[in-house]
Amino acid sequence: MLIHLLFLTSLIAAAHSHNATKQPLNLNSFNPKIPPRGISASKRFEGSSNLVNLRYHMGPILSSPINLYLIWYGRWSPSHRLLIKDFLLSISHPSSPSPSVSQWWRTLSLYSDQTSANISSRLLISGEFSDHRYSHGKSLTRLSIQSIIAAAGGGAGGFAVDHRSGVFLVLTASDVAMQDFCRAVCGFHYFTFPSEVGYTLPYAWVGNSGAQCPEVCAYPFAVPGYMAGGGPGALRPPNGDPGVDGMISVIAHELAELASNPLVNAWYAGEDPTAPTEIGDLCEGLYGSGGGGGYMGEVMRDSGGRTFNLNGRNGRKFLVQWVWSPVLKACVGPNAID
Ligand SMILES: *[C@@H]1O[C@H](CO)[C@@H](O)[C@H](O)[C@H]1NC(C)=O
Ligand SMILES: *[C@@H]1O[C@H](CO)[C@@H](O)[C@H](O)[C@H]1NC(C)=O
Repeated sequence: MLIHLLFLTSLIAAAHSHNATKQPLNLNSFNPKIPPRGISASKRFEGSSNLVNLRYHMGPILSSPINLYLIWYGRWSPSHRLLIKDFLLSISHPSSPSPSVSQWWRTLSLYSDQTSANISSRLLISGEFSDHRYSHGKSLTRLSIQSIIAAAGGGAGGFAVDHRSGVFLVLTASDVAMQDFCRAVCGFHYFTFPSEVGYTLPYAWVGNSGAQCPEVCAYPFAVPGYMAGGGPGALRPPNGDPGVDGMISVIAHELAELASNPLVNAWYAGEDPTAPTEIGDLCEGLYGSGGGGGYMGEVMRDSGGRTFNLNGRNGRKFLVQWVWSPVLKACVGPNAID
């Protein structure tokens, strides 16, 4: 009981204090258990608010076709890889039935930079690297992600990186611990340093929380103990795996922020660039109409009782959080009920 209370208290504290000095490791990180901040509910678009001062800070966005390099760190099953790749490839797959992943990404295409270039709607998987021998062990730090990228991009069996439009996505298996994973972060994005990797390119990291903290990072497919009695139970994940299905919404969140704020100098709210509130953060925990204040909103359920809100390629279904629209100034998703 005490642990649960402490957990709840720390969530409340985390939601209310966003001082960079206090939480330097939260930089561009995502923890879906923390409810959306400072946003009031409105009629049509969830989280709609003129108080959210999302601003453009003159930096570039991801405007040319996005060449994504995937790094599978640790042991990954072929079926989990296919599932995650189907999600990524659904972004540029407009023929999936509505509401679709590519419609969800259309909100991203509304963001532009000072050259009037918009975020690209083309995302390609340009390379894959399997670090199945855990080259940097099973307990990682934020900085070791850059070493993992350097190793994948450099040596034999690695990929030849497009230095103009490449981005990295590092996905760690369920037995890999990460600095602050589960406590403060479920994923984060940043960019590589020339001193570590040899060049500067954006990257994101997301971990499989299935074995470590699904109730934190794969919510609502697992719920914290203090919510078990009385509250809503865990929802059935669309693809039957809480850890990987939960990762997909975190991947979506990080990709949206990577695309709109790749060098942490483009689109974010708040005055402090070391603790930016980005377009995914603004819509944390919101998956459908009516959502907010801890309620996820209206989503769909298939005949097997599995929860989802987006369709993708190969008949896949996913549950993905909404993102902030710069036009509507609200969180939006294609499964909105008018
Ligand atoms: C955040 O920082 C400001 C000034 O830097 C300070 O006044 C405020 O008390 C801090 N808030 C918290 C929650 O620590
Ligand atoms: C590009 O961004 C501008 C500015 O937000 C927007 O008006 C326009 O509709 C966007 N273009 C596309 C194709 O989404």
